[in-house]
Amino acid sequence: MNIIDAGFRIDEPLTLPEDEVQLWRVDLEAIGAEESRWKQILSSDESTRASRFHFSRDRQRFVTARALLRIILGSYLATDPKGLRFSYSKKEKPSLGPEHAESNVTFNVSHSGDIALLAFTRGREIGVDVEQVRRDFDLEAIARRFFSTHEQGQLVAVPAEEKPDSFFRCWTRKEAYIKATGDGLSLPLSQFDVSLEAGEKNALLATRPDGSEAGRWLLQDVPGGLGYAAALCVRGHDWKLNDWQQGRRT
Ligand SMILES: CC(C)(COP(=O)(O)OP(=O)(O)OC[C@H]1O[C@@H](n2cnc3c(N)ncnc32)[C@H](O)[C@@H]1OP(=O)(O)O)[C@@H](O)C(=O)NCCC(=O)NCCS
Repeated sequence: MNIIDAGFRIDEPLTLPEDEVQLWRVDLEAIGAEESRWKQILSSDESTRASRFHFSRDRQRFVTARALLRIILGSYLATDPKGLRFSYSKKEKPSLGPEHAESNVTFNVSHSGDIALLAFTRGREIGVDVEQVRRDFDLEAIARRFFSTHEQGQLVAVPAEEKPDSFFRCWTRKEAYIKATGDGLSLPLSQFDVSLEAGEKNALLATRPDGSEAGRWLLQDVPGGLGYAAALCVRGHDWKLNDWQQGRRT
């Protein structure tokens, strides 16, 4: 579902079937101007966090993405978005608090540039990442630092004009995996390989030291919009994606 209208509201309760992953894309630039509306939905600690942003643009984007997260979750759970409680893992991954455990809803959020992606499912670990594709930096130097040996080898073989897309395909796939596990950067990025090929059915190629872990996840590209790369990683193979391009809800 694609949220591009500042007047966005949900009139009918949303349903989230057990075997679905639902992906929402939020145009933060288009709807961020309604900051005062979105701010009312935040908890007091989220408002405090918002007030600490140095740049108003960053504050506005955090407020908007967090409010939309609450609105969508509130609809799935048929509860007041403002009353939702979040818990945070040791590595800061947010999830619904224990009072909402019965719903089994899991989610993950990513933002870059003007876009936020919000991904939801039930009973599965999930991670999503979106990045604006940039060309203004030494991507091979960054790849040497963050990519596995196998991934660096793939990137070297890509023609120069395709390198930025391949680089961000690799980056978002790696991020989606470490966000799904919840480990963040505490998981050494050299301990798993992703494919750099476009359109892979499962881009998680190898995990170390436990090689069987790779088969327990599905890692795929998702539509981030023009100029963006995006990937989604979900534990298990028994789910289907309902993404923002299929159902346009504004
Ligand atoms: C924090 C991190 C999990 C993602 O950071 P990021 O890509 O900069 O930011 P994103 O917008 O994709 O994700 C941030 C959101 O992820 C969620 N998040 C925070 N910690 C998380 C964790 N440990 N696991 C999963 N999700 C997490 C939060 O919802 C956060 O948004 P919010 O607090 O504004 O609601 C972590 O992976 C990180 O620091 N990455 C830095 C980038 C990097 O070096 N990547 C190397 C890839 S090759």
